[in-house]
Amino acid sequence: MKKISIPGPGGYEKLTIVECDLRQLKDNEVHIEVHAFGVNFADVCIRWGLYESAKQYVGWPITPGFEWAGVVKNIGSKVSNVAIGQEVFGVSLFNAYATDVIVPSHQVFSKPKNISMSEAAGIPAVYLTAYYGLFQNIILRPQSTILIHSAAGGVGGALVQMAKIAGHKSVGIIGSSHKRSYVEELGADLVIDKKTQNWFVEAKNFSQRGYDIVFDANGQSTLKKSFDLLAPMGKLVSYGFHSMLPKKGGRLNWFKLIYTFLTTPRFNPINMTNQNKSLISFNLSFLFDEVDVLSQAMGDIVTWIESGQLKAPKVTQYSFSNVADAHRDIESGQSVGKLIILTK
Ligand SMILES: NC(=O)c1ccc[n+]([C@@H]2O[C@H](COP(=O)([O-])OP(=O)(O)OC[C@H]3O[C@@H](n4cnc5c(N)ncnc54)[C@H](OP(=O)(O)O)[C@@H]3O)[C@@H](O)[C@H]2O)c1
Repeated sequence: MKKISIPGPGGYEKLTIVECDLRQLKDNEVHIEVHAFGVNFADVCIRWGLYESAKQYVGWPITPGFEWAGVVKNIGSKVSNVAIGQEVFGVSLFNAYATDVIVPSHQVFSKPKNISMSEAAGIPAVYLTAYYGLFQNIILRPQSTILIHSAAGGVGGALVQMAKIAGHKSVGIIGSSHKRSYVEELGADLVIDKKTQNWFVEAKNFSQRGYDIVFDANGQSTLKKSFDLLAPMGKLVSYGFHSMLPKKGGRLNWFKLIYTFLTTPRFNPINMTNQNKSLISFNLSFLFDEVDVLSQAMGDIVTWIESGQLKAPKVTQYSFSNVADAHRDIESGQSVGKLIILTK
């Protein structure tokens, strides 16, 4: 088998293709021949050595990759949910940047027939993040109003669609004009282009009472204003910090990182109590072994995709030898939907 290995923190040159042997399959595991895998913003953070679960669980060298789609090649003696030859997709705690992956059977799901391998590979990580953030982490009241930053991205696009499925109003914020039509097509009630519009004023005008939820993965650049836009009982979901990071060059700017870390807003629980506003955070990569959470979320996601309620993301494909281009493109902040690597 082949995999992408990162020997230590750094730029695109660290993404190295290596040949290796497949390890032994355990009783509860499934071996998948990977046809396509998804690239996530988190993979770039792993390459930089900034991703906490990668540091805790693996260290260096590391093969990134949280999601894949492919065909079952072999199953352990205790596996009963999938069969050899079945088309499947799912998650893995790293290691999906490869031609083959071995994962516990609870992380493997039957691929919906109405989507391609490439589309399937772009679904698990970001749709699970959106599902967990919207439905498993928060109790939503009917017809809530939701503000979504980076709405044309992987997680953002999934949030826009899921908000609509659940009957909520959504406002999507984008950082570049070319992303507008995509977010409108996904069903956002309003799209704000923060490059040409004052996003805070536009968002406030749309919902004078504020927002029931704000999803913010920018971090330092918008967190304070996102919190200010919450309605009473509102929740700010802070699940990423990409405004601390560079958009080009592939290398960390340590001055920017330290400055944005020090100036990231801190929230005072006494003020939050009196304002009836909350801050919620999570990292999905620590939750892949929460079997009930995973199976409920993937169950609904697959049902919605098969019924056509939920669309697969727009995908841009890259070859296995061009992973660096995908990292460069997701880092740039200009990508729409998902970036997918084909292994063949
Ligand atoms: N906590 C979790 O469990 C979890 C799980 C998955 C993802 N995440 C986080 O969610 C965010 C979205 O992830 P994704 O994989 O779906 O990526 P993505 O949204 O497809 O791409 C990132 C988007 O963030 C915006 N952005 C703002 N500042 C940026 C910067 N300095 N560098 C690059 N992009 C910047 C850009 O959109 P605009 O310019 O349009 O805003 C860009 O398109 C990331 O921060 C990621 O780490 C968290």
